[in-house]
Amino acid sequence: MTTTVLVLNGPNLGRLGSREPDVYGSQDLDALRTILEADAGDTFRIDLRQTDDESELVAWLHGAVDARTPVILNPAAFTHYSYALRDAAALVTKAGIPLVEVHISNPHARETFRHTSVISGIATGVIAGFGFGSYRLALQSLRYTS
Ligand code: DQA
Repeated sequence: MTTTVLVLNGPNLGRLGSREPDVYGSQDLDALRTILEADAGDTFRIDLRQTDDESELVAWLHGAVDARTPVILNPAAFTHYSYALRDAAALVTKAGIPLVEVHISNPHARETFRHTSVISGIATGVIAGFGFGSYRLALQSLRYTS
């Protein structure tokens, strides 16, 4: 059986490749999709999306609840202050569906405002600091949680 995995990316991650390559690397989201699809094999189907819009992310999380789809979420800057996103993410995990918070960088090694995540407390788990490897590890983790 193939399990669809939603890989959701928040604001400014559509600029990966050119955005602060010293922090986020030089590969873009299409490259990430290719990497994850190769890792997914026959076990997972990757549905990778990006938006700069908080309400769209919330709607995608509602859809994950309704379809019982596991989620890998890079909330980007919303990580640090979006209670709306936290509440939507809580709907996912409270329904017993895994949601893994990921970050390309290690926010704890950066500015103080990045040390707070309003998402982590309701996430199934958190993986940060491994570049695109954070998403790959998150996909691996779903082999154990779903
Ligand atoms: C990020 C870290 C956030 O602090 C930042 O706002 C991002 C990307 C990461 O993947 O390292 O946009 O989530």
